[in-house]
Amino acid sequence: MSIEERLEELHRWRQRALEAGGAERIRRQHTTGKLTARERVELLLDKGSFTELDMLVTHRCRDFGMDKQLIPGDGVVTGYGTIDGRLVYLFAEDFTVFGGSLSETYAAKICKVMDMALKAGAPILGLKDSGGARIQEGVVSLAGYADIFLRNVLVSGVIPQISLIMGPCAGGAVYSPALTDFTVMVKDTSYMFITGPDVIKTVTHEEVTFEELGGAMTHNEKSGVAHFAAESEETALGLVRDLLGFLPQNNLEEPPRRETDDDPNRMEEALTHIVPDTPNKPYDIKEIVRLVVDDGTFLEVHEHFARNIVVGFGRLDGQAVGFVCNQPAVLAGCLDINSCIKAARFVRFCDAFNLPIITLEDVPGYLPGTAQEWGGIINHGAKLLYAYGEATVPKLTVITRKAYGGAYCVMGSKHMRADVNLAYPTAEIAVMGPEGAVNILYRRELAEAADAAAFRAERVAEFREKFANPYVAAARGYVDEIIEPKETRPKLIRALRMLATKRDSNPPKKHGNIPL
Ligand code: HXC
Repeated sequence: MSIEERLEELHRWRQRALEAGGAERIRRQHTTGKLTARERVELLLDKGSFTELDMLVTHRCRDFGMDKQLIPGDGVVTGYGTIDGRLVYLFAEDFTVFGGSLSETYAAKICKVMDMALKAGAPILGLKDSGGARIQEGVVSLAGYADIFLRNVLVSGVIPQISLIMGPCAGGAVYSPALTDFTVMVKDTSYMFITGPDVIKTVTHEEVTFEELGGAMTHNEKSGVAHFAAESEETALGLVRDLLGFLPQNNLEEPPRRETDDDPNRMEEALTHIVPDTPNKPYDIKEIVRLVVDDGTFLEVHEHFARNIVVGFGRLDGQAVGFVCNQPAVLAGCLDINSCIKAARFVRFCDAFNLPIITLEDVPGYLPGTAQEWGGIINHGAKLLYAYGEATVPKLTVITRKAYGGAYCVMGSKHMRADVNLAYPTAEIAVMGPEGAVNILYRRELAEAADAAAFRAERVAEFREKFANPYVAAARGYVDEIIEPKETRPKLIRALRMLATKRDSNPPKKHGNIPL
């Protein structure tokens, strides 16, 4: 064979891989509003940066006529490339080949890029669009899933793992994304569930659609399984590019700096009147975040879930940081089961990947009720306490208004090893709010008073005067400084610079036992 003939043969092989499931199945993919695996990769990575691996791998199944259906690549596109010039590894499931179902060799391809990503210390991105285990292959397919799950666990906390759900993701297959750091779902075209609508109907007689059961908004609002809901595949891919811009390549690196013209000494007068004079009036904590961060850019994570707490990424003088903020505009910003779980996971992510944690605190306490108690708020609340306690990255806290009770301790208090604790003059730091405190302390007097309302008002004013302020905590050194709201940005940036060389550690152990 001449070299020309050999080259022609190579081109034929490549062409067969690129044709994937064939023109008809590609057309069907497009008519259902989805892109093909390779189109997605092209959009996600820097132009021309993709190197594909294992393009000619085929499956080994010889049953059910599979020996006559050998498609090079076998339903998953794997390889590496760059995003904003930084290395990433990825796998993109190809629904046009056997419904993107996972075979033994398909799993081996994914394991190979995951192993490479771990060795190189670069993020791994999974683009999911699959009918699950390849039915014709049986247990070897299940084994393949387990091989992937194990790698998801082992690389957790070493390299960032991001999942994009761009089609079906069902059965045990959902556990790979669940083990990753962030899950992005595309509205209307993606769904995730353990058992589908048919099985549910048989077992529990509930009737539910795919979308209601496991669509993007279900998992963003109700279950919290997904962190982002994108309007389209293009926005989902763009979002992942933005997200990676805040993250280091691995746990041994610092997050990338992004230079900015935003003045680090910027005094922000608009901050002065955001916290209302009336203590029970709500306000949007995100307004404070946006006025403080570089160029007003804040990437909110888990926007639709447990909205009484806000988490996400921003930058301060180019330094990427994670924000955890009580949200007085929702449920008065109190802590409940879901908000504790959401924030705990975010705090642990930041700690694993060297992102300083900025806490903006305005929390009246925990949400009361049997639903919370019987649902295990004791355990779930402890997760957040644990996460803050074990985190060794720089921790800065700003108390904007309420810091009451156990919630004061949890939310990045000095006692949880926070490095710098600031408070606005509007801060109220006490065991509980004035009304609750007066009800308990003066129960008998209130019952006996001729004018209970007047007596209560007097005692409440007295308590507010004495305790509902930041000065008692400042006198103890629990608050390092009481600042004017307009100074928030410069104060945080100074603190971050001061902490740039911070080193802290936990006692040696195999691993802790976070109350899961
Ligand atoms: C082999 C599969 C497949 C599978 C789909 N296909 N799922 N082939 N194994 N699991 C093939 C179909 O035969 C079809 O082939 C093509 O993919 C497209 O499938 P359609 O059904 O035509 O597509 P659509 O109507 O869009 O429906 C998509 C779907 C449906 C909802 C995903 O295919 C489906 O229900 N598949 C089975 C899902 C499932 O039960 N998987 C196992 C889950 S358990 P042709 O040749 O016609 O194009 C699991 C365990 C994981 O995954 C365990 C981990 C521990």
